Amino acid sequence: MVAFSAQGHLNPMLRLGKRLISHGLHVTIATTHLQPGRRLFKPSSSSSATGHDIDFLFYSDGLDGRKVDIDTFMDSLSQHGPTNLTKLIHQKRLCCIVSNPFVPWAANVAHDLGIPCAMLWIQPVALYAVYYRYYRNLNPFPTLTDPDLTVNLPGLPPLRTEDLPSFVLPTNTFGAFSKLFSEMFGAMEKHASWVLANSFHALEADVIINSSKDLFPVVPVGPLVDPSLLGKGEEEEADGAVNLWEVDHSCMEWLDEQAAGSVVYVSFGSLATLSADQSASLERALKEGRWPFVWVVKGTEAGELSTSSGGGQGIVVAWAPQTKVLAHRAVGCFVTHGGWNSTLEAVAAGVPMVVYPQWSDQPTNAKLVEDVFGVGVRVRENGDVKMVVGSEEMGRAIREVMDGPKSEQIKGNARRLKIAAGEAVAAGGEGTSKVSVRKFVDEIVGR
Ligand code: UDX
Repeated sequence: MVAFSAQGHLNPMLRLGKRLISHGLHVTIATTHLQPGRRLFKPSSSSSATGHDIDFLFYSDGLDGRKVDIDTFMDSLSQHGPTNLTKLIHQKRLCCIVSNPFVPWAANVAHDLGIPCAMLWIQPVALYAVYYRYYRNLNPFPTLTDPDLTVNLPGLPPLRTEDLPSFVLPTNTFGAFSKLFSEMFGAMEKHASWVLANSFHALEADVIINSSKDLFPVVPVGPLVDPSLLGKGEEEEADGAVNLWEVDHSCMEWLDEQAAGSVVYVSFGSLATLSADQSASLERALKEGRWPFVWVVKGTEAGELSTSSGGGQGIVVAWAPQTKVLAHRAVGCFVTHGGWNSTLEAVAAGVPMVVYPQWSDQPTNAKLVEDVFGVGVRVRENGDVKMVVGSEEMGRAIREVMDGPKSEQIKGNARRLKIAAGEAVAAGGEGTSKVSVRKFVDEIVGR
């Protein structure tokens, strides 16, 4: 498996790796060298039920630890990655390479080595359909002259500009990602035999069915986080989670002392950083609403919200054991940026969400959470979606999920989807994703 070295990409890769190991395969994850001073935090035991572990291989991105902007990084990775990766793996007896959308060239490496390739799509199938139709010019999207065009795609609700991923908007300034997605669809259509997605049929049935009609087929194999382990206290180890930051477990004891369904968990994933204004209005909303909270404030921004600002009402940690927190009976609401791993982890744990999307796929994920899955609300300002929302709106959104007029309906949907998530992958069962993983393994082993 060739993983892009970001937390949101490593987690689904590792979790799929664990599933493949449970079918008797050996799994190696190759990723780039970490920045100097960084290390992977592995759980004490990351071996699987079959007794063997995922191996890690590190190859050079060609930058020797130099800090550069994202465009330079992506260019260097695609220039040096193929050769450096090939050097490492050419003598291994591989039956398949599983690539990741951010390392599209891995499909070419597999082709050159004469082995099949699968891509693991780490976002919802809805996003696969949006990007595919955008980069293959299959449907009209907003342009500079028509910036407010509503996008109508099969199997999805009408998507307004505010619901679209930021990379397809005419205002997108991240050229590296546009280039990447174009390369990805090209490499995928040329050399990939499968596209596996971290989603499940019951969650995205309409778009999955519609995409299978006219797009390169996508096979849902998720949720890759294991719902049967959530809440058992062992999911970190069993999941094989590897963290790029050290996990602070101090919030777990604190959660034990809180009433069921009373706590708001706040986390914006591994990349997004809230501005001072965004943090301030969220903090004010939590204080005014008197909700107990666990808030993840990563590394350098931690200074903005000191641990003492919890003031007994809440607890601030730099990196939480997120799946454990979500599975804790005290947690009643997840304020999230809507990263797909976080969203699916909340779905699998049955926790309703308040989504405050920042960029990339997150606006579309927020739309899905609110209007397709019905398991949460998106924050707005005077009816509009804004980057900074006031404390009143933050409070309204949290109340709506915790005990507002719609909360029973939202909680009911969350309970139903939690059950469906478990059924899709249950060990020993015949759930849709479980069957798809088995078929995938049979095909690659049988080749
Ligand atoms: C990135 C993109 O930003 C996101 O939009 C895309 O859908 C996936 O890739 P990221 O922003 O890190 O991901 O968010 P997310 O997908 O939610 O992944 C974060 C992961 O870190 C989750 O698996 C979560 O459980 C974990 N996490 C987060 C922790 O373990 N502890 C924390 O304190 C916070």
